[in-house]
Amino acid sequence: MEFMLDTADAQAVKELSEIMTIAGVTTNPTIITKSGKTPEQVFDEMNAVLAPEQKFFMQAVATDYDGILEDARRICSLRKNMYVKIPVTHDGMRAIKQAKAEGLNVLATAIYSPDQAFFAAMNGADYLAPYVNRMCNYGDGVQWVRELEEMLELNQLPAQICAASFKNGNQVHELIVAGVGAVTVAPDVVRGMLDHPGTQIAVNEFTEAWEGAFGRRTFA
Ligand code: G3P
Repeated sequence: MEFMLDTADAQAVKELSEIMTIAGVTTNPTIITKSGKTPEQVFDEMNAVLAPEQKFFMQAVATDYDGILEDARRICSLRKNMYVKIPVTHDGMRAIKQAKAEGLNVLATAIYSPDQAFFAAMNGADYLAPYVNRMCNYGDGVQWVRELEEMLELNQLPAQICAASFKNGNQVHELIVAGVGAVTVAPDVVRGMLDHPGTQIAVNEFTEAWEGAFGRRTFA
């Protein structure tokens, strides 16, 4: 499975990429505007910390078919392993078809139901981003992603699910257990999954015992 970071914070990506295996980074217009940086700055900073094989996702901002495609072509030309995120509106669904016909890398986004995701997969989207936590306002978001996995498998559609919009680590955990292909998670939620106070307490116990017995804080 692929674990991605949902952020415009290049420093967080650098730090977490050093200690975890990060397949890529996703952003959206809200994340970029909240960062206080221009999209160009966000791209440059992210491009500087990402390895060439790490994927980077930026979203089309235009909402009409021609505009979405123009944004998509521009975004995908920025670097290798660059993906355009396209919301699954009517114009977006149409643009996904055309973008794939042009060989662009596409993630279908702002997905609130398994059926929307399924239609985007039929249009050839590479990734599908169901908004798990937001879907929970309408039903069981985690269960809907499980259903989507089945729908894709039964119909032999190659699209990968990249589950997004997580409020907590447990939602992420449940989808990893369900075998989801990819998740994209904000750095603060990732840190909540990565860190446990018990780990540091255990390490302190080991160090103190060793130092007490052998007078040093290293193995030899
Ligand atoms: O990648 C989509 C995601 O950023 C939406 O998350 O937290 O705004 O629901 P959120």
